[in-house]
This record gives sequence, structure tokens and C-alpha cells, in this order.
Amino acid sequence: MEKLVIRGGNPIQGTIRVSGAKNAILPLLAATILTEEESILYDVPNLRDVRVMKEILEDLGIVVREQRDHQGKLIFRVNPKNITTTAVNPNLTEKMRSSIFLMGALLGRFKEATITYPGGCLIGPRPINLHISSLEQLGAILTEEAGFIYARTDQLKGTEIHLDMPSVGATENIMMAAVLAKGRTVVHNAAKEPEIVDLQSFLNKMGARVEGAGTDTLRIQGVSKLYGAEHRVMPDRIEAGTFMVAVTMTGGKLSLENICSYHMEAIIAKLRKAGAKIQRQGDLLTVEMNERPKAIDVKTMPYPGFPTDMQNQMMALACVAEGTSVITENVFDNRFKVADEFRRMGAQIQTDGRIAIIRGAKRLSGATVRASDDLRGGAALVLAGLVAEGVTSVLGVEHIDRGYERLEEKLRVLGVEIERLSWD
Ligand code: UD1
Repeated sequence: MEKLVIRGGNPIQGTIRVSGAKNAILPLLAATILTEEESILYDVPNLRDVRVMKEILEDLGIVVREQRDHQGKLIFRVNPKNITTTAVNPNLTEKMRSSIFLMGALLGRFKEATITYPGGCLIGPRPINLHISSLEQLGAILTEEAGFIYARTDQLKGTEIHLDMPSVGATENIMMAAVLAKGRTVVHNAAKEPEIVDLQSFLNKMGARVEGAGTDTLRIQGVSKLYGAEHRVMPDRIEAGTFMVAVTMTGGKLSLENICSYHMEAIIAKLRKAGAKIQRQGDLLTVEMNERPKAIDVKTMPYPGFPTDMQNQMMALACVAEGTSVITENVFDNRFKVADEFRRMGAQIQTDGRIAIIRGAKRLSGATVRASDDLRGGAALVLAGLVAEGVTSVLGVEHIDRGYERLEEKLRVLGVEIERLSWD
């Protein structure tokens, strides 16, 4: 087991490069299944979730070769020619909920797929009803037995789908199923996240005909065959946002390279309200902070609203801000778990359903805290450790590793005293 040990109090100074986006690479890897030709993905983030997805693909018979470019960034060459099974290994799906969108890709190419319920329950806290009903509308027949979903179809057929909620994963699943369906699919109330645009761009390089990504209506004209393609994964806006919050908390000056700043409007606006000075120039963004952050109110919403994946980090900021902040979580039911850990560090937080009220303290105190299965909560604990008095130990680092590439190494470059240590 490993923990991150942080000695708080240092301001952040320096430059780092943002990695490829976790939430983009996972659907891109699923999309490689849609052809029998090799695809090449550049700027692949070396994350635990990506490792699990790679294992899932390899278990299906796909060959994934890893290379490094001249800067040491990871390249995946994915060859899905000799897929031997369309049943996704349940031991691996358990480790990653995102494996659900393999269903659309497998159905698209092979007309069949078997997958376990991620989390084991259909109408649970993170349901997959929209994925299921959308694939059924496209002509898939789904049956459930002993925790497995068996999906098959004679031919997927384009149709009009109205999503009750702009689910990111369901939108991606539909895109991957519809690109090889017969005829035209229109998705209303589609998710508008930048990662959907990245997926559209890769699919179209493969020969698909998808348009409308980034708006709430997607139009997909099915084609009979797709081809291998090359694609560079878009930058991770949540990793970038996490580092921007870090410097807003510690003070100092941070430059981030490899940024799409127009994906980050909601985050930039909030951090400016907290007092950060933010400048952008091409794919470079600079954040400077010279004062104690001011309290901020945050309401999470689907894109282009404030991202739920940045909510816990904003709570860390609110814990040390001047004044009282109100955070409203509108996307997920229960995303304030980290508040208990912040309280161990001296934070004053009251939660009631989807609302959290945080009275900012001048200082937090170092403590031993535990990252849980919400990886963003884990990162938020590290942020709190950056400004806490004394030493903070964050246990459960494996959760943080799901979505952050070498978090402690990047922070060390910026002047933070942080180490990864083993413990039993
Ligand atoms: C993706 C992101 C995750 C992010 C989330 C919201 C990936 C790999 N993960 O997750 O980091 O927090 O978007 O931006 O990209 N819902 C249903 N039925 C469904 C599907 C979803 O009711 O069938 C609900 C969920 O419970 C949730 C909301 O829709 O309340 C949004 O979930 P969704 O957009 O699907 O999130 P994910 O794609 O799982």
C-alpha cells in the first residue's frame, strides 16, 4: 500500500505539461474496436484506468503495443484484427465502470457483446438505464442473467434517440454503436463535453460520419466499414483545473502547457472570483495568486457548466477561503464524501443533500486522511495538504492514480514537499 506524505506551506512556482485526458482516452480505446485495422493514439496518459482498459482490450484478443515519443510520452498502437471474444472479462469490468461503453463498440462491429453490470445494479446510484434503452432503440436485444448483460442484434438501425439526461457515457456508447448502424441516428439532448468532440474527431478519422459534437444534437450517418486512424488525445481539463486550484490555494505562479483554455471557461471564471490572475496564450495558461482566496459559490452542471469532476477540489479551496462558500452538486447524488476527511483537518463544512456550506478557516492542520473510490476526492485531499500546517498523509493513493499521472512528481517540480511512501 502506498501513501502520499505532504509537508504543507510552500507556494507553487513553475511550469508543467498537462497530460492527455483520462475521460477522452477511455472511449477512444473502446472505439479502436470498430475496425480491424490498427489505430495509433498519441499522448496517452499513463493512468491506472488506462492500464485496466488496456488489459480489457488484451483480454478480448486485441494487441496493444506501447511506444514512447521523443519526449517520453506514451503511444498506443492498437491492433484489433484478431479479437477472440466479445465477452468482457468481469474481473476487469469490476475495476472500471467506464467499460460499459465497450458494449456499443462490440455491438457495432460484431453484433454481440457480453458485459457485467458495472457495480452490479441497474437502477443504483450510477445507473446505466440510458445506455441500455439507447442501444435497444438502435435495434439491440438485451437480456440479463446472473449479473451479465447479453446484447445481440441482426443489424443495428439508425433512429431518433432523446436522452432524458445528457449522459456523457451514454452519448459515447450511442456514437460507437451508431457509426456502423444502417441509416441515420439523431441524438437529442446529447452530452456536450469536449471529450465527445474528441471522440467524434477520432471516429470521423476512422471513416465515420458524425456531426454535431459539442452541441446537444448529434447526427450520425451509418457507414459499412471503418478504418484504422491516428489521433492525439486532447489535454485533460480536469488535471489542469486541479493544478489551477492548487496554486490558487498555495499562492505563487504556475504555467500550464498543453491546455485548451476554451474548455475551461467555467473553471477560469470561478478561480478569478477567488482572486487568481489568469492569462492565456495559445496552449499556455498562467495562474498567479498573491492573496488569500475569497469564498466562491459553485453549482455543478453538465458542460459547459461547472464540471462535477472539479467540485471536490473547489471544496478544498473553500476550506481555506475568506468567507463562506456554498457548493451545490447537481450531477451526482452523493459526491461530498470527502467532507469528512476535510473535517479531520479542521475544515468547517455542513452538508445537506446536494448542498455543502463551507466556512473558510485561515489554516488547516495536517492529518492522516484517506482517499476513497472517488478519485477527485483523493486529489482534493492532496490540495488540502498543500496548505495545511504540518504533515498530511493521504492513504488510498491507488484511487488518485486512476486519474492523475505522476501527481506527486508534477507537484515536486512546482516546489511542493511531497513523497510517495509504502506502508502496511
Ligand atoms: C463521465 C465521466 C465522469 C464525470 C461524468 C459527469 C468518463 C469516463 N467519466 O461519467 O468523470 O464525472 O461524466 O461529467 O468520461 N445517468 C443515468 N442513467 C444512465 C447514465 C447516467 O441516470 O444510464 C446519470 C448519472 O447517475 C449521473 C448523470 O446521469 O447523475 C451523469 O452521468 P454521466 O454523464 O453518464 O457520467 P459518466 O459517463 O458515467
